[in-house]
Formats: sequence, structure tokens, C-alpha cells
Amino acid sequence: MSELVYLDHAATAFPKAPGVAAAMSRFLEQEAGNPGRGGHRLAVAAARRIETVRAAAAGLLGCAPERLFFGPGATYWLNALLNGWLPPGGRVLVSALEHNAVMRPLRHLERRLGLEVEVLAGEPGGALDPSTVRRATRARSTDLVVIAHASNVSGLVQPVEEIARAIAPVPLLVDGAQAAGARPFAFDDSAVAAYVTSAHKGLLGPPGLGLLLLAEGRRLSPLLRGGTGSHSESEEMPEAWPDALEAGTPNAVGIAGLGAALEWIEGQGLETLSRRSSSLVCEVRERLGEVPGLRLHGLRPVDEAVAIVAFTVEGEDSGELAAWLDRNWGLALRAGLHCAPAAHRCLGTFPAGTLRASFGPLATAADARRLVEALVARLEDRHR
Ligand SMILES: Cc1ncc(COP(=O)(O)O)c(C=O)c1O
Repeated sequence: MSELVYLDHAATAFPKAPGVAAAMSRFLEQEAGNPGRGGHRLAVAAARRIETVRAAAAGLLGCAPERLFFGPGATYWLNALLNGWLPPGGRVLVSALEHNAVMRPLRHLERRLGLEVEVLAGEPGGALDPSTVRRATRARSTDLVVIAHASNVSGLVQPVEEIARAIAPVPLLVDGAQAAGARPFAFDDSAVAAYVTSAHKGLLGPPGLGLLLLAEGRRLSPLLRGGTGSHSESEEMPEAWPDALEAGTPNAVGIAGLGAALEWIEGQGLETLSRRSSSLVCEVRERLGEVPGLRLHGLRPVDEAVAIVAFTVEGEDSGELAAWLDRNWGLALRAGLHCAPAAHRCLGTFPAGTLRASFGPLATAADARRLVEALVARLEDRHR
């Protein structure tokens, strides 16, 4: 079996940032009390760990810590916001590149609440112009706009800061699952109403953990209700944050892991990491662009995209090609629709999908070269 070259960072980061596994193991061995449940030293240590990491995450994402919440994943927070913010019969606008973490809850609410869901076509490739979004929100009363900050299919980054300003006072919910950690973003300097992301992708932390950032003045009723360790005399949820939105025992070990990842990102500098992956993507695109029979999809200037390259090879089934790359070259890529059929419709790659190479900050030029070499070899084989 050849050595693994992991190019599926958009699915989940691998490897995690240096120090993540050690921090999780240390937490389990030394601090793993139930945070907020009891006054003994382990409960206190766990609660302190969570608040330290909350402050670090808030620092990186430019948000006040008291408005940053932890939960089980980006999917969880998207469901909480869509369920909490959309009224019966309401109208919601979405980009053409949304993930099923947005589209599935919306389709469900469409049936249940008689919601009107309108997909904004944008330019070819799905890029949105703020003035187009503004016009659409003014055409009829609109309750919410939802936009993926970066597409998990093509990597396209939408100008969410400009869009949020253009559509105000209509709230913008941003799905930042692919963008957080991949490019600098300061939530509190933007007019975005809510920003959601996962810990396990660009933030290089463990799975099973998601972050919600709420703008000042925004409220959200909880999707889940339960114990918080606070106000235990009451059978109603406390109103105070973060408890009001963080029912149940939190994933403190995951949060400890995220803390180590954030420390590593901070040490490296997010700008530096982002520049490094952009230059790698530039090289990959250039070299793949020269491979005959290979087609790149959804191409944008690299400063308008995260480190994702979507492509198809003429006469090849993407799934079979991905399996061949894994088996023969140790290359781990994802093929298919990437939980985002809407995005593939927009790119003209539905239903067959594409191959997706996605690069983390630890990917190297050698990894990129191996991908190109493997694809060239595959095509040469076919012509023999
Ligand atoms: C754009 C986008 N949104 C949402 C999600 C859901 O994230 P999670 O599975 O971590 O909840 C993903 C995950 O692939 C994604 O790429």
C-alpha cells in the first residue's frame, strides 16, 4: 500500500493541527469533569478549559466570546437557526451553492411551514453580486438570506461582508463550514447576523463540534432543551448565555482539541496559512489545466476561492477514478456530489459529480505533484 496523500481536507482536516490529539488525551486524563456540574476541581478545570477555548475561538473569528456558542456541529447550528428564525409562510433566499446542511432543513420547513425558498442563480458558477441579492430581498418581504461563505464543491468565496451590508436590515446567515480558518474573517466587523462553522475542517480540530456566532442584538430560541448545570431548581431553560443555547453535557474533549488547533493556527498566522494553500492551488490548477482530457470546474481567481480544485476526466467515472487514485497512488480525494446537489446543478456537473482535491495547510508541493503525476499516468495508460 503506498503512503497516504490526503487531499480531502474539505471533508475533514487530516492530519489535525499538531497538538490536537495530545490536548484531547491530556484533557481526558487530567481535566475531564462535567463542566458547570459541581464545584469540585475536575468540573472547574473542564469549565475553565471551555471558557479559555471559547475566548480563543472568539479571538480568531473576531467575535465577542459571550456571543460564541459550542454545539455538536455546523449542521446542528444551521438547523437551530433555520428552525428558530423562519416564520410560517416566510421567505428565504439562498445561494445556488448551498450544502444539504442548509437545503435539507429548508426543504423540510418548506413543507412544514409553507416556506418560500428561492435560489439566487448569480453568475455562471454561482458567484453573487451584493446588488443582485439586495434587489431580490426588496422584491418581496424577505425573512432571511443564507449563503455559504465558501463552496465545498468549487471553493468559491462569496462576498458575505458586502452582501450583509447591502441587504440590511434583512438578516444574513453565513454557513462558514469551509471558510473559517481558511481565510481571515472578523465577524463583529461585519453586518452578518449569524455565522456557523465546524471545528473539524479549516479550524483543524476534532469532529463532533460546531460553533455559532451571533451578532449583537440577535436572539435564538434553543433547538434542544435540557440540563445546563445552572438554575437546576427550574424546569425552564435559563435565559442567560451561553447556557440558554448549550443544553446537555458539552463535548469538552473536542473543545480541548480545538483549543490546541487554534493555538497552532495563531502561531502560524492565518494569513500565512491561507497564502500557502492559495499558492499550492495555483500550481495544481496550472498543472492540471495542462492535462489533456481533464476539465476544471467552477474556476475563480485564487483570492476568491478556498483551496479546493474540482475536476472531471473525459471518459472516466469520478468514483472509479478516485478509487484507482487511492489504490495505486495512495491519493485520498472525494468523488461525487459532496452533499451539495444544488452546487453541482449550478456548475453543470449534476448528477455525475466531480472529483475534488482539497488542500489543508500541511499539504505540500510534493502532494500536488503526485496528484498531477497520477492523473497523467492514468491518461497515458488509457492511450497505450
Ligand atoms: C459548506 C458546508 N456546510 C455545512 C457542512 C456541515 O458540516 P458538519 O458536517 O461538520 O456539521 C459542511 C460539511 O461538509 C459543508 O461543507
